[in-house]
Amino acid sequence: MIELKNVNKSFGTKKVIDNLNLVIPDGEILAIVGPSGGGKTTLLRTLAGLEKADSGEFLLDGQPFDPTSTKEQEQVVGVVFQDFQLFPHLSVRDNITIAPCLVLKESKDVYNQKAERLAKLLGLSELLENYPYQLSGGQKQRLAIARAMAMDPKVLAYDEPTSALDPELRQQVEKLILDLKKDGVTQIVVTHDLTFAENIADKLLKVEPIK
Ligand SMILES: Nc1ncnc2c1ncn2[C@@H]1O[C@H](COP(=O)(O)OP(=O)(O)O)[C@@H](O)[C@H]1O
Ligand SMILES: [Mg+2]
Repeated sequence: MIELKNVNKSFGTKKVIDNLNLVIPDGEILAIVGPSGGGKTTLLRTLAGLEKADSGEFLLDGQPFDPTSTKEQEQVVGVVFQDFQLFPHLSVRDNITIAPCLVLKESKDVYNQKAERLAKLLGLSELLENYPYQLSGGQKQRLAIARAMAMDPKVLAYDEPTSALDPELRQQVEKLILDLKKDGVTQIVVTHDLTFAENIADKLLKVEPIK
C-alpha cells in the first residue's frame, strides 16, 4: 500500500499540489483526472523523485520513504512518461536493461533474462534487437512500460498513456493496464480522458488547477 499525506508542492509562488492525501491499496488502480495545468505531471515527477515535494509524507506499507533518495536501490514508483523518453541509440533490449544494469548492478545474464521476460509480457519478443525508430507508437509505449518495470517498482504510473496513441489503440492500453492489474501490479494512471479513467479505475481522483 502506498500512501501520501499532506503533500505540497509550489513552483515559486505558484502552488501546484495542495495538501494532497492519497491511499492506494496493493493491486488497485488509481486514476487521476483533470485539465491541463492541474499538477498531474508534477505529482508523477515528484513520485519518481525528479521533483522534491515542499512538505508531506510518503509511505510504503506504513514505512516512510523519500522518493528523491538516491541511496535507495528499491524504486517505489516507476513512471511511464507521456513522450516515453526512450533512448534512441539503444536497442529494445538495451532500453530495458540499462537502468537495472547501472543502478541495480545485477549480472548481464540476469538483466538479459529480465528483458526477455518483460518483452514477452508486453508482446515485444520479436523486437528485442530493434531500435525505437523501428517501432510503432503502441510498441514504443509498451517498451516504455517494460523499461519502467525493469526496475521492479512497487507501483507503476503512467502520464497520459492514451494521448500519443491513435484512438483505436486506446482499448489496447486499457487491456494492458487491466492485464497488469490481474498480475497484481499497483498502478496510477494520469489522464484527462474521463471515460478511459472510469473504465480502468478502482478509485478516481479529480484535480483542478489551483487559482
Ligand atoms: N519545473 C517547473 N517550473 C515551474 N512551473 C512548473 C514546472 N513544472 C510545472 N510547472 C507549472 O505547474 C503547473 C502544473 O503543471 P503540470 O504538473 O504539468 O500539470 P498537468 O500535467 O496537470 O497539465 C502548470 O502551471 C505548470 O506551468
Ligand atoms: Mg501533464
